[in-house]
Amino acid sequence: MTAALAVHKAPFAVEWREGFRIGIDQLDREHRHLFTLVLALDLGTVEQTVEQLLDYVVTHFSNEQEAMESSGYPALEQHLRLHEQFASRIADFLMPANGWTEERVQDLRRFLNKWLISHIMTHDMRFGKWFAAHNLPASDADASAGRAGLIGRLFG
Ligand SMILES: [Fe+2]
Repeated sequence: MTAALAVHKAPFAVEWREGFRIGIDQLDREHRHLFTLVLALDLGTVEQTVEQLLDYVVTHFSNEQEAMESSGYPALEQHLRLHEQFASRIADFLMPANGWTEERVQDLRRFLNKWLISHIMTHDMRFGKWFAAHNLPASDADASAGRAGLIGRLFG
């Protein structure tokens, strides 16, 4: 790799940060794994990584949507549309069948990092805060048992 490419690549190699946490363990773990997959994008293995990424995105969106639905999150419909918009943008990006170049891999990584960070920090965070406010009345022991039950129902 040339020095110029290394410089070009650096800003888009985003690693998971604690600040990305939305406070729901399962979803935070999945978000973290998404960053790991984006970071692993590399010209030599891009097709396999993209396939893994798409599979994992589908699983993650479905888990996140299920968590929203089961907890009665009022902005579920709006959130579903954001996930659909993402799916259609990524499909548009992957449509051209003219092969991969280093630049195209970097473009994909930049797009994914930007989308993930903006989506998590705005919309998923909103859900995390709502979830904490509506499902975790901390001072009540019964509520805490209720919370365990809810988490079990969501992710069990
Ligand atoms: Fe989301």
